[in-house]
Amino acid sequence: MTNNLPNQSKSYWHDSVDLPHFPKLEEKITVDVGIVGAGITGITAAYLLSKQGFNVCLIDAGYILNGTTGHTTAKITAQHGLIYDEFINHFGVENAAKYYMANDEARNFIEKIVTENNIDCHFTTEDAYIYTNSEQYVKNIENEWKAYEKLNIKGEILDTTPLPFAVKKAIKMENQAHFHPLEYLNTLIDECQENGVQIFENTRAVSIEYNKQPAIITEDDHRIICRYVIQASHYPFYDGTGFYPIKMYADRSYIIAAKTKKTVENGMYINAETPTRSIRPVTINNEKMLLIGGDNHKTGQSHGQMMAHYDTLRKFADEKFQLLNIPYRWSAQDQVTVDKLPYVGYVTKNQHNVFVATGYRKWGMTNSTNAALILHDLIMEKDNQYADLFSPARDIKVDPSIRKLISFNTDVAKHLIKGKVDSSNADIEELKQNEACTTIINGQRIGVYKDEDEQIHAVDTTCTHLGCEVEWNNAENSWDCPCHGSRFTYTGDILNGPAVKPLKKVTIK
Ligand code: FES
Repeated sequence: MTNNLPNQSKSYWHDSVDLPHFPKLEEKITVDVGIVGAGITGITAAYLLSKQGFNVCLIDAGYILNGTTGHTTAKITAQHGLIYDEFINHFGVENAAKYYMANDEARNFIEKIVTENNIDCHFTTEDAYIYTNSEQYVKNIENEWKAYEKLNIKGEILDTTPLPFAVKKAIKMENQAHFHPLEYLNTLIDECQENGVQIFENTRAVSIEYNKQPAIITEDDHRIICRYVIQASHYPFYDGTGFYPIKMYADRSYIIAAKTKKTVENGMYINAETPTRSIRPVTINNEKMLLIGGDNHKTGQSHGQMMAHYDTLRKFADEKFQLLNIPYRWSAQDQVTVDKLPYVGYVTKNQHNVFVATGYRKWGMTNSTNAALILHDLIMEKDNQYADLFSPARDIKVDPSIRKLISFNTDVAKHLIKGKVDSSNADIEELKQNEACTTIINGQRIGVYKDEDEQIHAVDTTCTHLGCEVEWNNAENSWDCPCHGSRFTYTGDILNGPAVKPLKKVTIK
């Protein structure tokens, strides 16, 4: 294979759009709604609420749309893997139907906004397919089809798909879509600005002072006094005793944009088995390509071998489609909740002016839009038929979630201890450019990275969130926390929360 992976991780969505930039917040302000996190949830909520006349402020710790929204496969679908049979078993037919309807309405909402605003974002209606090539999963596909029939989901069970390779069984959900998410959201940002939304970048929220009028406190100690706060920051930085760290885990996945000899013009695809393979067509610089994603794993738990995940996707692309080249590669991080339903609503039962939206389990385009619609209705004090299903205060169903919950926390405990007893003592002198290692200095575990100029950067590897030990990610050159998914640059700056403080820099003599 002559096709190499690009050296740098860069999302095609970001490379193909000019986004506006915004100043940092430098003063105390008072607004009706303070929204933290300028991804699809935050921007859609800002758009909806500002249209209702609310005075809205939207802040982001970095740049707008630089989180998961800018690193998605951008499938707009209610087909979220094999989920409906499982949801019927765990939550009942009525709730499984609600999950479908909420996501279907979100899909239709996006189409309506695209049509009304004439947004050129390559919105394309497509059927979505789950396929399997594993005998073991044929039964699961058949059960999922029965669930589709019970829930009146339009689709088909099939023995073939438009893919250029055979499958054992597949299920189709009709009339789904994909688009260029940043073109879509760029227009919503324009609309927000026309509606008077104040937008600030490089403005990290570190806590909330909870009062009748809550205040968002920023890293620079400025206050945003609000009637309502929405945490749309991927992971809630303010927990309010909602115990989010024990109710979610962070998962990373990988995407390549591939030019291939064989291609598929229509449809969007995902396999039923693991490792996950997600496929959708995309046009890049007037050329038909494929976005191929998957190979996900819990954040910080890939033993430093992140590039291997891209390589696996590359091999898959070559085997199935005859790979020509790979112009882009990037990765994304998602939160997964213990019962697979997002948490959308009041941060805790008793704090009705602080909201959270998280846990989209990689299906962020519709789940985020649904979240924004629910939060809009809660703030407007309007009934929303889906609010209870997604409420963070819901009862978590015992099977299989609780088993997972136990394993989450065993895992966290393991990572809290691991590293503290890590006796690895790598030789810093032997590090090559762009390599990192951990070592023990004066009894303290230190992460050391040598950059392209042979400069050494050392940090204390204790995560500033709850004290787990971060691990090196060689695909993104970052320190990633295995417990709740905080990520840091090699200099210790925060890439992803929940941590709100950087890793401590260490001077090596
Ligand atoms: Fe929670 Fe690191 S993200 S301990």
